[in-house]
Amino acid sequence: MSPQQTFVHSSGAPMYMETSSAPTNIATIKYWGKADAKWNTPINDSVSVTLNQDDLKAVTTVAASSSFEKDRLWLNGEEEEGAAANKRFRACIDGVRALATAKKDADGKVLVTKEGWSRMKIHVSSYNTFPTAAGLASSAAGYAALVAALTLLFGAKEEFPGQLTTIARQGSGSACRSLDGGFVAWRKGGEKADWSDSLAEQVANEKHWPEIRAVIMVVSDAKKDTSSTAGMSTSVETSLLLKHRAETVVSKRMETIEKAFLAKDFETFGQLTMADSNQFHATCMDTYPPIFYMNDISNSIIRIIHAYNKWAGKIRAAYTFDAGPNAVLFTLDEYAVEVGALMLHYYPEFGENYVNNPDFGMKIKAFDLDDGLLEATAKTGREPKSGEVKMMYYTSSGPGPQRLTDTILNLDTTTGLNTYMYKK
Ligand code: DP6
Repeated sequence: MSPQQTFVHSSGAPMYMETSSAPTNIATIKYWGKADAKWNTPINDSVSVTLNQDDLKAVTTVAASSSFEKDRLWLNGEEEEGAAANKRFRACIDGVRALATAKKDADGKVLVTKEGWSRMKIHVSSYNTFPTAAGLASSAAGYAALVAALTLLFGAKEEFPGQLTTIARQGSGSACRSLDGGFVAWRKGGEKADWSDSLAEQVANEKHWPEIRAVIMVVSDAKKDTSSTAGMSTSVETSLLLKHRAETVVSKRMETIEKAFLAKDFETFGQLTMADSNQFHATCMDTYPPIFYMNDISNSIIRIIHAYNKWAGKIRAAYTFDAGPNAVLFTLDEYAVEVGALMLHYYPEFGENYVNNPDFGMKIKAFDLDDGLLEATAKTGREPKSGEVKMMYYTSSGPGPQRLTDTILNLDTTTGLNTYMYKK
């Protein structure tokens, strides 16, 4: 039996609360382009690595009470006005609530009927443990945490496996892949009129290939990006390369990369990860007018990684970039310190807490890079310079959403109002 998360609102009405954390994920075969904007479904399959919540996560508290006047949302401590009418937010609340079950006490007495949930308004408070400004996929973690917390609150039961991922997908496409750990595929679907077959499924859990590591380079960027939603809409309208990619390239790549992940074949996994990131950015360039997400720093990282792999005679690290200039470098446990040290050499420390993980920070500072490697990578033309990378994250792959019962709730247990204060 789960611990009671029932409180009494100052008005005297019961207030039910649940908190969940959820991970972010990084696609190695990218989602770019919608087949159906209403259902938020993609033109091609995609697959991603779920990152470890010890390093990056969203934490969301949801509460329901008949004494709330309207649905409300606080993000990183700030209220989002008009959230109740936001299509994505609504799709998640209404979607999970449709799967609600009656809430009973320990003796089996019904506290809230299935229908009773619809008579209550919902308060949501969510925060990220990483700076939103860092440009890391915060919407995936946020919507996954929202769906996970609502699932606990409403005691929601899926009518078919993966149904909750179809709801998270309507919050943000990539969020559907954050409801599971390890390596997760989003099947595009399209056979069913209501797109209920556009869902995420786990290819392998986080224990399958525990040696996988990610080193994230948060690249400074003063410019405002084109949002994924707007960018992919223009790409679908104008890029012939995107059409070709969706029709003929991705399905083969999905098959190969899933096999490579299951076989722990880093050579194939890394090669396809890099090729698919490059093709995604090529479709952005092929969009009219073109979209540029990567910058000169991103490009210098690409060159260094290729020089590194060439020097090693095999793929030791693979880069991938989403809708922004940050690099995510996948590697294996045995090369992680070398990869981190190489990055630290060319993008030296600036500011406090440059590396999220102090132990990893110490190791990469102490690591003695091979002279031949430095010579090979120097040929890329990159010279060590600090200030162009804001931060480095070191992380691994991890599990899906977690129920939190012992952390401080983000909502007050008598008023149901936000208590979270954003710490910069
Ligand atoms: C480049 O999931 O943010 O990160 O569905 O419009 O919310 P919406 O888009 P979003 O797009 C993510 C795009 C990507 C690739 C990926 O994660 O697969």
